[in-house]
Amino acid sequence: MQEKDIVSKVKIYGYEELSASDRTLIERAKAATQTSYAPYSHFQVGAAVRLADGTVVTGSNQENAAFPSSLCAERTALFYANANHPGQAVKELAIAAYANGQFLKAPIPPCGACRQVILGIEERYATAVRILLFGEEGTYVVDSVKALLPLQFTGETMRE
Ligand code: THU
Repeated sequence: MQEKDIVSKVKIYGYEELSASDRTLIERAKAATQTSYAPYSHFQVGAAVRLADGTVVTGSNQENAAFPSSLCAERTALFYANANHPGQAVKELAIAAYANGQFLKAPIPPCGACRQVILGIEERYATAVRILLFGEEGTYVVDSVKALLPLQFTGETMRE
């Protein structure tokens, strides 16, 4: 039997340590929480995506009484980006969450399904997506979704 450690690098920033560009993206994600439709969970998530040409698009979670028919903020934003700016690689993604009248203190991690979709977009554009997970007490930054999804299933997996 062999063991293997899989190590991920996560950078943790105080808000004032972030670049102006990062803060702008986070503010767009925070603002997007207010367009969430979350009458069931009351958990409002916002996502902001920066494309290769600098365009920023946003999304928020949209819920439905048939719960699985809902969609997370990240996929709302990413699918909108791909549908409306199909040639543009996704460079960065910021996520924020708002519940009980405040933004989350801890960084908001994307769900597994969203991680898989981000991975697919990295593969599609052969470009890593830098991800900023906002929390009032610190923002986690990773250089690729691979840091959040260490063993990846991609199209390449099926061709090996
Ligand atoms: N949600 C997101 O929008 N993104 C995530 O990464 C985690 C969960 C949404 C889905 C649902 O509308 C609500 O948060 C509670 O799970």
